[in-house]
Amino acid sequence: MTQIQREPAFVLAPMDGMTRASFRSVCFDYGADGATTEMIQSLALGRAKKRMSETFAETLVRFPNEKNLAAQLIGSNPAMMAESARRLTAMGHFDAIDINMGCPARKVVGSGNGSALLKSPELAIEVMEAVRDTTGLPVQLKLRLGWDEDHITAPRLVRAAALMGFRSVTLHGRTRMQMYKGPVDVAAIRQICESVSIPVYANGGVACAEDAIAFLRATGAAGVAIGRAALRQPWIFEDIQSLRRGGAPVERLAPERVGLVKRLARLACGHRPEKVAVSEMRKFAHWWLSGLTGADEILRAMNGVTALEGLDRLMDDYLEVLAKKGDLAVHPELLPPPTLDTV
Ligand SMILES: Cc1cc2nc3c(=O)[nH]c(=O)nc-3n(C[C@H](O)[C@H](O)[C@H](O)COP(=O)(O)O)c2cc1C
Repeated sequence: MTQIQREPAFVLAPMDGMTRASFRSVCFDYGADGATTEMIQSLALGRAKKRMSETFAETLVRFPNEKNLAAQLIGSNPAMMAESARRLTAMGHFDAIDINMGCPARKVVGSGNGSALLKSPELAIEVMEAVRDTTGLPVQLKLRLGWDEDHITAPRLVRAAALMGFRSVTLHGRTRMQMYKGPVDVAAIRQICESVSIPVYANGGVACAEDAIAFLRATGAAGVAIGRAALRQPWIFEDIQSLRRGGAPVERLAPERVGLVKRLARLACGHRPEKVAVSEMRKFAHWWLSGLTGADEILRAMNGVTALEGLDRLMDDYLEVLAKKGDLAVHPELLPPPTLDTV
């Protein structure tokens, strides 16, 4: 079957602890075509009487520039998943409900959730039906190829999703046993894309804008979902667009990188405790400032900063020093070695 021809979509893949409103919003500023919240445990949402934690609340917020936002549920109890889908739908600001059948974490699969469902396709289909029958929103599925190479269940589940009228599928081209390492099976993704008429987004192993375009071509997918590369380079979405127009990726200089740390911190502070939001900036700063002269020192100095004002001052002073030296570019020799298998 052929995919319906449309402009390919390059979307932000869901990432626990990362794809909250503030970071999603930054990616939308750079032209992401869509995003998914981090996974939301059906149990947690089903028991919504319990006060939602302040950090979790940011997951469920939607910023005005988020144009195609799915809320992702994880769980394996069809009734609880349905109830959680109903509650997310009632919030009124999500465009779709996404079902997680990809998470490989030991704790998650130990309780039968995430990629454990790939071992029980009948139950997986019950979950899909329960969510589809409850929400009035479009439903999407995110999954891996299978549990291991002897249990490749994605072809069956993707076909089931298409028959159930799901809006799309995001397919990580690895098995659960591969976790985040090893080769992505491009041919398997391609075969599955060709077997259904709903859009399939290829996922796994994209490291840069060029990779994303090559992956799209090699899989024949309707789009590409980008995870870890977007954490390190949220501008990847803009770079993809410029490559597609025949241009080249833009060199990201210190003012943009430093400005991004300040912007993300400000967005996050609106929705979570300031001290928590500011301390979380260190990991993003590590990705975005590495390679700039003196970044190590600034990252160390960030340890002592707990307020937005202090962070702004530290960033402004740092930029002033770099500007005075005329040293605004990233130095490749100062970059840490790539660690694509971990975040
Ligand atoms: C830190 C982290 C958290 C993740 N959390 C989720 C999640 O909540 N839901 C989900 O479906 N996938 C999750 N994933 C998987 C990613 O969406 C994606 O499938 C995977 O990272 C492969 O894509 P990439 O190579 O572009 O990163 C997570 C991945 C990482 C690295």
